Amino acid sequence: MLNEKVEKALNTQIELEQFSSQLYLAMASWAEKNGYNGTANFLYEHSDEERSHMLKLFHYVNDRGSHAVVPSSEKPNHEYESVQKVFEEIYNHEKMISEKINDLVGICYEEKDFTTTNFLQWYVQEQIEEENLFSTVLDKLNLLGGDKARLYMFDNEMEKLVTAGTEGVTE
Ligand code: FEO
Repeated sequence: MLNEKVEKALNTQIELEQFSSQLYLAMASWAEKNGYNGTANFLYEHSDEERSHMLKLFHYVNDRGSHAVVPSSEKPNHEYESVQKVFEEIYNHEKMISEKINDLVGICYEEKDFTTTNFLQWYVQEQIEEENLFSTVLDKLNLLGGDKARLYMFDNEMEKLVTAGTEGVTE
């Protein structure tokens, strides 16, 4: 069984991963409504990925004999100024998530829960990849400088990432 402090911290992370999933779902909906279908599909897929991050933690808590709690989700923002603003927000959000994962690892270490510290290494690695992915996407958007034709091409590129996986974006 997990100690109380670790259990509470893991349940807080479950809440954050669930919120990430809801946030990207709201962004996908905005993108779809505004004709950015490639971006929308990418974000729908990413929303599913966040749910899988949440579930991985959820199962871990219960597998360790503790109690995973279904988070009540705060309603995310549904309106965005531009695709660029969407990805700026995602990048900042992911940087915050990385900090939370690091704090969580710190708590497990202090509590001498090395099994959970070890389990969380997957999340540490995942956050490096996500920050890298979104920083690259944002760099690309910054280069477009608001050009509509290029934004259309960018949207097509995002669509390709849905089927190809996210590795291609960092090339
Ligand atoms: Fe689950 Fe995007 O971090």
